[in-house]
Amino acid sequence: MRAEQTLEALQRRMIQQLKTQHHETAPLDARLLLEHASGLSSTDLAMQAKQEAGSTLIHDAQALVALRLTGMPVAKIIGHKEFWGRRFHVSSAVLDPRPDSETLIEAALALLPEKKALRLIDLGTGSGCLLLTLLAERPLARGLGIDKSRAALSLARRNAHCLKLRLKLGLDSALDLNLGLRRRVALRHGDWLHGVNATADMIVANPPYIASDSIDRLDRDVRLFDPRLALDGGSDGIGPYHALIAPSFQCLTGGGHLLLEIGVTQAEAISALMAAAGFTDISLRQDLAGRDRVLIGRKP
Ligand SMILES: C[S@@+](CC[C@H](N)C(=O)[O-])C[C@H]1O[C@@H](n2cnc3c(N)ncnc32)[C@H](O)[C@@H]1O
Repeated sequence: MRAEQTLEALQRRMIQQLKTQHHETAPLDARLLLEHASGLSSTDLAMQAKQEAGSTLIHDAQALVALRLTGMPVAKIIGHKEFWGRRFHVSSAVLDPRPDSETLIEAALALLPEKKALRLIDLGTGSGCLLLTLLAERPLARGLGIDKSRAALSLARRNAHCLKLRLKLGLDSALDLNLGLRRRVALRHGDWLHGVNATADMIVANPPYIASDSIDRLDRDVRLFDPRLALDGGSDGIGPYHALIAPSFQCLTGGGHLLLEIGVTQAEAISALMAAAGFTDISLRQDLAGRDRVLIGRKP
């Protein structure tokens, strides 16, 4: 057996190829692409490292590396992405769930009691990662997800159907439990809260917040592969916040919260919009990199 034909050698070669363009993420990217091409888990890959890769797998793995070198994000290539420990399907119709958005989940969960039948609304739900994660973590809650993209809604529906609670039983075995999300979530086509006649205890949103003329300067991975509808926040980047903050105030029950993911430079402008709409106790959360990420406001 030649060394370069083992799984281990193939993975090493993929890392070297990917490093030419994606230096920091190359090891993780290579592992995810090889798992996808081989159908093996990371544990299997480690245990079978010295086994022959086979010409079909080598060919498939190289094709995935070539796609990645066009700038296509790994999630878009393999069709899924981990968010808050669960796997979400993704497609060209949605923004890939970002680790930064877990800041919003953490803040929301701190405000949501566990044993209460709460009503949640997610504006611009995309893959459904925010709403479905909150519903998965709060089994008595119900939620409405709204998006302007019908293709995004159909993917969110698929995620609601597929998302399971995975209980690890051992190193390589797990039990998947149904979370009943299909019964607890409604997904609706719409333009933020226009025409929506619902009340909610919490509204969350990660709206598009990039200024239109900055989109051409974004990384190729984002600019070419995330949908423009998920990125473009209008001329100043905060158009969607103007459209959704005051109507959110109307929909919330007294004591309810609005949580908004924001761009790193937008905290001041958006907290002013929240205050003008009547929100109080406005506070800011930063992400793991210390960047302004989430604004929280309370309806008195
Ligand atoms: C930044 S993405 C966020 C997706 C998802 N919530 C997440 O956090 O990964 C913004 C989402 O807002 C949706 N959107 C854009 N304009 C909208 C509008 N006027 N009404 C409702 N949704 C809209 C986009 O289709 C996209 O799915």
